[in-house]
Amino acid sequence: MKVVVLGCGGLGQIHANIYSKLEGVELTGVCDLQTELADNISAQTGAPAFYSFEHMLENAEFDAISITLPSYLHKEYTLLAAKARKHVICEKPIALSLEDADEMINGCKTNGVRLFIGHVVRFFPEYASLKESLDSGAIGRACVSHASRVGPHPGDAKPWYKDHERSGGVIVDLMIHDLDFLRWTMGEVKSVYAMQYQNEQLEYALATLQFENGSIANVEANWGFPGPFHTKAEIAGNAGVVMTNSLKSSSLQIHKHPSGETAPTVSIPESPAFKSPYALELEHFIECIREGTEAIVTASDAYKALELAHAALESARTGKPVQL
Ligand SMILES: NC(=O)c1ccc[n+]([C@@H]2O[C@H](COP(=O)([O-])OP(=O)(O)OC[C@H]3O[C@@H](n4cnc5c(N)ncnc54)[C@H](O)[C@@H]3O)[C@@H](O)[C@H]2O)c1
Repeated sequence: MKVVVLGCGGLGQIHANIYSKLEGVELTGVCDLQTELADNISAQTGAPAFYSFEHMLENAEFDAISITLPSYLHKEYTLLAAKARKHVICEKPIALSLEDADEMINGCKTNGVRLFIGHVVRFFPEYASLKESLDSGAIGRACVSHASRVGPHPGDAKPWYKDHERSGGVIVDLMIHDLDFLRWTMGEVKSVYAMQYQNEQLEYALATLQFENGSIANVEANWGFPGPFHTKAEIAGNAGVVMTNSLKSSSLQIHKHPSGETAPTVSIPESPAFKSPYALELEHFIECIREGTEAIVTASDAYKALELAHAALESARTGKPVQL
């Protein structure tokens, strides 16, 4: 499988380095308008550097492309790649508007290529274990959950993140990770109620989701915390609580309600063996292309996550809950 990477910023470097070490994959090009970024990754990976998509398309052989461009460019380059009959692995959010996301999904379908969106949280072992704890019945029926994602404002280093026309802001860019995770774990959402606070330094959003299964979740996204970037999630079921906190070394803990009068509370800390979730994700997407199989996260899931983000935006704007 021959793969290229378009956009050599933060995520482009991650994708390119993973592909360069992935068995059965050849990285045949890395591309960025900023020539020194493309040259640096080219030096790290041995893949040829290109400075425009069009030049890479003409000169590199490839079956699939990772699109790691700023979010406002996802649609344009996904459609160009699909037209050239290349499979697309695009970073999240799928797009900034639902109309654009729809065009991307249809454009890939029409051209007979696959479209994958990098909702990487599903590939974090701790988060996958949270879902597994619920699916297996270990904590009983889902009641209440909480997820938060907190870090410095990426717009301090990369100005496009501060422009909502280009990044979508903290809800569409950051909260979307947990919106996707919670929908994956809890099922479809019935309503969203959200609030947002923003000033020069920070962007903060808080949303309450009500699911069709009757459970509720609080989701918090914060750009403006001095650092380090960290995430937490907790799912309370009627038989126990499962939680993860990226600041703690033992990142997954299960605390079960005692089931009999004398039973002690059980705590089972786990440290899933570390493999980069980005590597797990990209390996999985490549495997899906190779085998023609369904992905753990589909383009339609990414569309639904964006739909939830837009519901949260609308609720924050109007002050009213949004029914889905
Ligand atoms: N999955 C995750 O955990 C995660 C984390 C951060 C960012 N992201 C997403 O990844 C995407 C990229 O974010 P980033 O932080 O890496 O951005 P970035 O600004 O670091 O990198 C984007 C790069 O694209 C290049 N570029 C812009 N227009 C181009 C063009 N037409 N042709 C070629 N190169 C072009 C820029 O020069 C820049 O180097 C965004 O959609 C973001 O939301 C995902």
